Amino acid sequence: MSIDYQQKIPNNVDLAGDKTLQRALEHWQPEFLNWWADMGPEGSHRYDCYLRTATSVDQEGWASFGYVKMPEYRWGIFLNPQVPDRKISFGAHKGEAVWQEVPGEYRANLRRIIVTQGDTEPASVEQQRHLGLTAPSMYDLRNLFQVNVEEGRHLWAMVYLLHRYFGRDGREEAEALLERRSGDADNPRILGAFNERTPDWLSFFMFTFFTDRDGKFQLSALTESAFDPLARTTQFMLTEEGHHMFVGRNGIRRIVDRTCEIMLRERTDNPEKLRALGVIDLPTIQRYLNFHASVTADLFGADLSSNAATFYTTGLKGRYMESRLKDDHQLLEATYPVLNAGSGQIVVEQAPALNALNERLRDDFIKDSNSGVDAWNKNLQERGIDFEFVVPHKAFNRQIGPLAGVKISPHGKVISADAWNANMRDWLPTPEDRAFVQSLMGRVVEPGKFANWISPPSSGINGQPVECEYIRFG
Ligand SMILES: [Fe+2]
Ligand SMILES: [Fe+2]
Repeated sequence: MSIDYQQKIPNNVDLAGDKTLQRALEHWQPEFLNWWADMGPEGSHRYDCYLRTATSVDQEGWASFGYVKMPEYRWGIFLNPQVPDRKISFGAHKGEAVWQEVPGEYRANLRRIIVTQGDTEPASVEQQRHLGLTAPSMYDLRNLFQVNVEEGRHLWAMVYLLHRYFGRDGREEAEALLERRSGDADNPRILGAFNERTPDWLSFFMFTFFTDRDGKFQLSALTESAFDPLARTTQFMLTEEGHHMFVGRNGIRRIVDRTCEIMLRERTDNPEKLRALGVIDLPTIQRYLNFHASVTADLFGADLSSNAATFYTTGLKGRYMESRLKDDHQLLEATYPVLNAGSGQIVVEQAPALNALNERLRDDFIKDSNSGVDAWNKNLQERGIDFEFVVPHKAFNRQIGPLAGVKISPHGKVISADAWNANMRDWLPTPEDRAFVQSLMGRVVEPGKFANWISPPSSGINGQPVECEYIRFG
């Protein structure tokens, strides 16, 4: 079977000029399509979907819209243009020219970074694969599919690096990326949050709000990498990540909006009454928020990490906005505050900044999450509703790092196991919450119609009306 890659895979990496690479990807592509057939959005393979496809990295090319059946989506490989004379901006190699090939001594660590990032991409498609069956509108169904195909493209982006720069090990890793399965007991995805279920649309929007935002921060740190192809790949991935976070931010905003409308109409904030009216009460939304924020906080890893220090010192992974930070970019003497809860209360301690890089990235992530949540709160204020969403304290409900051994409230107080058990139902989604949210999930896919529990968006996709037929079921 011969595949015309110039046709099939839009790319700006001269695939046609590298026969070995082309053959390797020829071998991998049908396996990817088999994986998509098995694990991609359930029941969707025949639909014509109004999707954007990147055909180049420049302004006009990176988002061309049109109808496509998802198995025929043109998953492309794009690197941002090379910056001439780019220099390494941090770590022990600061000031040296960036690398166009993988230095032998850093090969294992770079491969691990790329595989860990790559593994999250198909994982989220697997987590979201049943959601189409309960879409609250055709508009939302289309957004789900857009996120899914782009996560597929992100997998291609990482697989390209593995095939192009890591030889046989890279090809084996690329196959393993299609073999692990989210939530599988025997062969799970690498990171915890990517083995959680995404059983309903409130979870989906929280996932895209928080967990795709983790993606933003991980990718941003990799855009600083001394390994130039990784930096250029992740730069382009970030443009797509923006839309995923938009889906989450606006999805939650619309759910809150609809709940507020009913609260004002019925003059009630009683959760039972609101549930009976078919909308999601605000405290339940806060509990989902607490869950997703804390599970995602764990993705940044242990507060103190010698791996993080090594990745930085060797130039593999920088800090968020590394080049804009005003310091020596080597951090040999610097310190950074981390939390210690060993004494029964949370104490801030200064740790070597190099070891605290996970914590620093987590703090950047939380700051960014807060600004998103503020927008929901502004909406509540404007409507005169006395409720405020809060991103939980970063030590709340942690499963990774030294804080995992301590019970900490969403406000950041160390509490007893008894107090935790007594309050947990107010802080994290209960089985009843999940059952209630699940009970609202019915499929609404007539163009322009929306499920009762969510408001329509203020505008459609790419200038199309909200009631556009974004999916043709055929
Ligand atoms: Fe992604
Ligand atoms: Fe994403």
